[in-house]
Amino acid sequence: MSKSVKEIDKKYIMNTYNRYDLEIVEGMGCNCYDIEGKEYLDLSSGIGVNSLGYCDMGWVASVTQQVCKLNHTSNLYYSQPCALAAEKLCKRTGYDKVFFANSGAEANEGAIKIARKYSFDKYGKGRDKIITLINSFHGRTITTLSATGQDVFHNYFYPFTEGFVYAKANDIDSVKALLDGSVCAIVAEMVQGEGGVIALDKEFVKQVYELCQQNDILFVVDEVQTGAGRTGKFLASEHFDILPDITTMAKGLGGGLPVGAVLANEKCSQVLGYSMHGTTFGGNPIVCAGVNYVLDTIDEEFLKEVEEKGKYLKSELEKLDEVESVSGLGLMLGLKLKTKVASEVVKEGIKKGLIMLTAKDKVRLLPPLIISYEEIDKALSIMKTLL
Ligand SMILES: Cc1ncc(COP(=O)(O)O)c(C=O)c1O
Repeated sequence: MSKSVKEIDKKYIMNTYNRYDLEIVEGMGCNCYDIEGKEYLDLSSGIGVNSLGYCDMGWVASVTQQVCKLNHTSNLYYSQPCALAAEKLCKRTGYDKVFFANSGAEANEGAIKIARKYSFDKYGKGRDKIITLINSFHGRTITTLSATGQDVFHNYFYPFTEGFVYAKANDIDSVKALLDGSVCAIVAEMVQGEGGVIALDKEFVKQVYELCQQNDILFVVDEVQTGAGRTGKFLASEHFDILPDITTMAKGLGGGLPVGAVLANEKCSQVLGYSMHGTTFGGNPIVCAGVNYVLDTIDEEFLKEVEEKGKYLKSELEKLDEVESVSGLGLMLGLKLKTKVASEVVKEGIKKGLIMLTAKDKVRLLPPLIISYEEIDKALSIMKTLL
């Protein structure tokens, strides 16, 4: 690690991240390199962002061509990369319209605004409560911290945004108990990522979806971590055979550039009118060039491979003695260990050239979707030594 970078970082950057002792200077595919040229096989994708790995050549070309043509224009004007990304996203998913933001939290903020305004327009004031799930994670803004169903996030920053209540995941009675006529939306991740890579039960999702439809409550699915092919489907909702009223995306959608997206069906795609929502950088042409490349690359064939590689990785991990269970879908996996501490395993992994993540007490794997079987085998052999 270059001492100066660590020192400058410690001196000038707010101390909000407990960084590992690793300075990444470059990357290609699933590998990255530190300041001494040591190679690391990265099963984290920058927390699910580098969906096509580091510096995919096609993605680089698409983005650099756009950089040289038009870096930014405000949302007061039309621009082709943004319009094309929106068209591709809507056609791909079946949604009516999209709003582009810059992060997952911001996408969720947009979804929450749509849900409350939809209800306000139809029912007036007072029908504004939002049910989220215990153990969820929806972001770090004051409102998305409120939406996050974990007490540990409800500290210090008072007053938090009001109007969020929390139901138990996979317990439909817990959801029903909160339906008192003032609920406008239910928000959920199909696979709780930060909460420990826990997929919801199909039956529970179906029941929530039906409850929402019966009561004109918007069903919002947070696909910030699960979207853009991570689970082997373009949207994780497809595993559950539903198209929610609203889906939010971010992370892997831009392939390494900051983007958020709020996708809305016909019922709520017109809820936000002129000047009711906006963001300076949303739909930026460079970012959208990255989005367009990712969308063009993640076709059905690509997704099939993600699903198959995910199954292979999961089944091989299940064979390891130290692994109690493997949760998750596609290439979004969580390992519950029998005796070892996940955070220690991740630290040791870095020493052995393998980058992984944690999620609660689990080791979390979010490898680039382009990972090869050879790279999976290499990762498994390092994991065997770690476990
Ligand atoms: C499910 C989910 N929602 C929202 C967020 C927040 O996204 P961002 O960090 O881009 O604001 C995350 C980030 O980990 C997430 O996993």
